[in-house]
Amino acid sequence: MADAAELISGDLLKAAAVKYLSDTKARVQQEQRGLLSIFDSWFTRVAKALIPLERGRPWEDSVTELAARSPAVGQGLQWDLQRLRLFLHRWQQGRFVEFAQRERSAAHYHPHYGTEFGIDVLLTCQGAPALMRWRGTPLLKTVFDFAIYPALISELRPRTIFEIGSGLGGSAVWFADHLALCGIEGCVHSVDLKKVEIEHPGVSFYHGDCGNPDTLFDPELLRSQPHPWLVVEDAHHNVAGVIEHMHQFLLPGDYLVIEDSEVKRPAIRQFLSAHPGNYLVDTRFTDYFGRNATCAGDSIFVRAPAHDGPRSQPNVP
Ligand SMILES: C[S@@+](CC[C@H](N)C(=O)[O-])C[C@H]1O[C@@H](n2cnc3c(N)ncnc32)[C@H](O)[C@@H]1O
Repeated sequence: MADAAELISGDLLKAAAVKYLSDTKARVQQEQRGLLSIFDSWFTRVAKALIPLERGRPWEDSVTELAARSPAVGQGLQWDLQRLRLFLHRWQQGRFVEFAQRERSAAHYHPHYGTEFGIDVLLTCQGAPALMRWRGTPLLKTVFDFAIYPALISELRPRTIFEIGSGLGGSAVWFADHLALCGIEGCVHSVDLKKVEIEHPGVSFYHGDCGNPDTLFDPELLRSQPHPWLVVEDAHHNVAGVIEHMHQFLLPGDYLVIEDSEVKRPAIRQFLSAHPGNYLVDTRFTDYFGRNATCAGDSIFVRAPAHDGPRSQPNVP
């Protein structure tokens, strides 16, 4: 496979496009009863425009020449080809990707945020006139995460959710309601410097300080709660210390989401360098709506089996 920093091109690009087109056809027939999404239609149209181009030449060269000869047709196709390359570049890397590999690929995207869109979308995606609410309580989620978490919960079926940073409590209640909607017998444990006073049968709120991660949750609670877990770090304080602490209790298959990750990258790098190969980015979720269309850019992690093999028990000290 080409280096992550090198955008897919030439014959590799052609082969990936043909394969993805055939996968799309099969999925549309089998899972979508023939109904194409906007993305399916776009991909099919672009691939069908590219495939008949001169066989022995890379599409990049043919399209550049077409754009010079006939700008009205070629420039549109140039834009499409670039989008297609970015998408297939990610797709050929597979679903679970090392954080470092993701960081290397960021060169092709927004220089600061590594997303497919710019700061304008990021500015407003938590709500510009007001925050979104759940059962009347505001929650600080982007509109993308508002769709990603339910998909993640429905697939992972977490028996326990730990939230670090309750905010106003709306997100913990929202998580608990989604567990119930999916028929999952699970609980949410949510901690904050300012304990939330909302009552909900599926949520326990706690007081705790990330400055002292040992005090966030009772160690007995951490040892006893059923897996799989979804752990959400959203307190923005002592991030490396907090995730290092939770790591001791996480098992392979558990998920760790670090929200608002752009400012936390140094802490994430520090944590991952101490645990190489233990966590992989699940790009199905980070890239569901385009690359890093989430506040947890490159930071929806699944705990992988450690290099020395899977453990059946948490690494409790
Ligand atoms: C971004 S808000 C959480 C939003 C919430 N998770 C949501 O999605 O609606 C961050 C929270 O972290 C809490 N926080 C800040 N520093 C903390 C610390 N040292 N320990 C625990 N919580 C802290 C703040 O009180 C605030 O409620």
